[in-house]
Amino acid sequence: MENRGPSVYVHGTHEAEQARLAALNDLLNRRTIDEMQIRPGQRCLDVGCGLGQLAVAMGEATGPRGYVLGVERSDDQLAKARDAALGMSHVEFRRGDALHLPLRPEERAGFDIAVTRFLLEHVPDPLAVVRHMLISVKPGGRIILADDDHDVLRLHPQPPGVMNVWRAYIRLYDRFGNDPFVGRRLVQLLHQAGAKPKRNAWVWFGGCSNDESFVPLVHNIMGILHGCKDQLLLHELITADEFAFAMESLKRFAAREDAAIWFAMSYAEGTRQE
Ligand SMILES: C[S@@+](CC[C@H](N)C(=O)[O-])C[C@H]1O[C@@H](n2cnc3c(N)ncnc32)[C@H](O)[C@@H]1O
Repeated sequence: MENRGPSVYVHGTHEAEQARLAALNDLLNRRTIDEMQIRPGQRCLDVGCGLGQLAVAMGEATGPRGYVLGVERSDDQLAKARDAALGMSHVEFRRGDALHLPLRPEERAGFDIAVTRFLLEHVPDPLAVVRHMLISVKPGGRIILADDDHDVLRLHPQPPGVMNVWRAYIRLYDRFGNDPFVGRRLVQLLHQAGAKPKRNAWVWFGGCSNDESFVPLVHNIMGILHGCKDQLLLHELITADEFAFAMESLKRFAAREDAAIWFAMSYAEGTRQE
């Protein structure tokens, strides 16, 4: 299958980023699992599984008669994932690249469900990943794609300078050959890979002042931008002053009594034809 080159992961796997990703999982996993409708006993594959929190939640849904395999490229993430799954012998993690899934021949076409969340935005050839996922599931098996469309973000009352930095962050994806708007392509990717698209949805991922997820949501945005500050400056997409101004502005936004955030994770599902 075609591979247009190694993928660059914009967020990195340093400690602060791992903390951001863990908090993001806390915000989103219940809703993601509700969408997935995993049944006890099912065999699931999680591609680009990060810290393994979603794989563990999937393992809770399959129960010990099922099986979950998480594939991840970074050793730092894998170490945390294995810690998260201690005591769950049916949840396994394996080092590997999403563009060359490390499956044994007898495992191919053996999964009921293959999932990838927040990975397709970080690879230059998302279709190649979806094709690999397709051949990993049984005929009739499900392929679930969940990812970002960064254009969806709305903040109100708009904190000055923030969208300027957000747009610069979006442009960084282009610099790496990745698609910051891949969320809107999920159904098309399923079709192009040869799956039959069955479902298109958004998983809500916003909030407002005084709801318990509001400050964590603002911190998630700040964490994303902090994590790629050096790259933004290196690629001259913003200045250090613009960055500092936007961060101050977000801090003030987090303290408002009247603020709202709209964001949603694109979610699409298809099946492998029988
Ligand atoms: C934003 S994180 C998402 C992790 C997890 N899926 C979740 O939703 O919490 C993306 C993960 O994909 C991994 N990754 C990036 N490119 C990859 C590739 N080509 N193959 C496998 N993993 C990759 C990164 O190391 C990172 O852990």
